[in-house]
Amino acid sequence: MKITAVLLAAGQGTRMKSDLPKVLHPLCGRPMLGHVLEALKTATTEKPVVVVGHGAEQVEKYLGDSAECVLQEPQLGTGHAAMQAESLLRDKTDYVIVTYADMPLLRGETFQRLIETQRLNPGPFSLLTVIADDPRGFGRIVRKADGTVWAIVEEVVATPEQQAIKELNVGAYCFKADWLWDALHRIRKNPKKGEYYLTDVVELAVKDDLPVQAVVHDDFIETIGINTRVHLSEAEAALRARINREHMLNGVSMMDPASTYVEVGVKIGRDTTILPNTYLQGNTEIGEGNVIGPNTLMRDSRIGNRCKVLAAMLEGAVLEDDVDIGPFARLRKGAHLKSHVHMGNFGEVKDSTLHEGVKMGHFSYIGNATIGANTNIGAGTITCNYDGEKKHPTEIGEDAFIGSDTMLVAPLKLGDGARTGAGAVVTKNVPDDTLVVGMPARAIRKVERKKKG
Ligand code: UD1
Ligand code: CA
Repeated sequence: MKITAVLLAAGQGTRMKSDLPKVLHPLCGRPMLGHVLEALKTATTEKPVVVVGHGAEQVEKYLGDSAECVLQEPQLGTGHAAMQAESLLRDKTDYVIVTYADMPLLRGETFQRLIETQRLNPGPFSLLTVIADDPRGFGRIVRKADGTVWAIVEEVVATPEQQAIKELNVGAYCFKADWLWDALHRIRKNPKKGEYYLTDVVELAVKDDLPVQAVVHDDFIETIGINTRVHLSEAEAALRARINREHMLNGVSMMDPASTYVEVGVKIGRDTTILPNTYLQGNTEIGEGNVIGPNTLMRDSRIGNRCKVLAAMLEGAVLEDDVDIGPFARLRKGAHLKSHVHMGNFGEVKDSTLHEGVKMGHFSYIGNATIGANTNIGAGTITCNYDGEKKHPTEIGEDAFIGSDTMLVAPLKLGDGARTGAGAVVTKNVPDDTLVVGMPARAIRKVERKKKG
């Protein structure tokens, strides 16, 4: 049994007031279109078809080869949009799930329920509805006296009586494919809006005396459709709550889930605690027993076990086990802190490896460097790695002691056990177990003390 999704994503999304196509607006780190495709994956068997139009180039670029794209030009409504998939799918699939790309909260299970319902339906299709007090501009479901679905009436054309109906059209349909293509050709332009409404297929089935089934969904949140940025923020909050809930049920503590921003795809191990105002983004993986936050942002980073990350910003960084950083630590791309590294306040590390047990307590910049195990980096130490044209490496051995405010002018090598005095400007390599000092202050004249008062 072949089941193919057709996702309508060609609309302009005027109400978003955006240069970005509506369906590419992200929620929890993924464009809304991506959420819908992910849910559909679990319910369909074939590569999905996405109907693109407004911003087609951008949308196609995002999709890559994860979907077949067909262009709808001009955009004459949802019925016309669905019709564009015919050339690709006629005689190629048994069922077609048609849904809209602006409903990112729908779950795979919900599409599966819809398909199950249609399998038992002798009629041509089944659709998803929801009962809600706030109609949000959704089409209203009008039922016949016997309870079967009679029509979907769009809000703009609904009578006051119909507007009061609380059963709404969510916008997910499972069709018998061969019936669908012919039905789409029979849809007439809606006289009021000049568009071909997909929802008019209900009346066509009713005319043919064929039953349309409705799956009434009980979770209104899941059916949030996004037409404005207000809806976008509501949907994102709901999705965030869903993601956080799942992590908590898997053994992650969150002191305040409402201010914990975890993107889809982030992995967090059990007994890790996430404190408020923390952002975990992109391809981030966190092990067990860590305390992360408050006030931390982590993107594309990997954290081992039992680390403490306080008020820090990490991008493309790796922390092994028992690392302790912050507050106000900044780790940039290629920062690799091995186990038991301590990095205190106002440090920055980029493209560098700090081996086991390195201590870097205060105000340092370490770039393009390798720091040997158990070396101490004094306050204010800087690797002067950039000469205005090129980056140069710094290599420091094990058990070294870098005095406060040392300038390490790269390229440079310091051996194991090397020491530098406070304020040293090191321009030449330092052998093992050697102390270098530079520019000590010397008295130049007597000065007068200012009298107070
Ligand atoms: C639609 C439904 C409505 C339902 C609601 C649920 C119709 C006529 N109405 O209304 O019953 O309650 O969704 O969210 O179907 N699109 C195209 N090409 C077009 C027009 C739209 O691809 O020519 C795409 C849009 O990109 C969007 C989706 O179809 O992803 C829905 O379009 P939209 O204009 O948002 O429809 P609604 O007014 O929300
Ligand atoms: Ca919509």
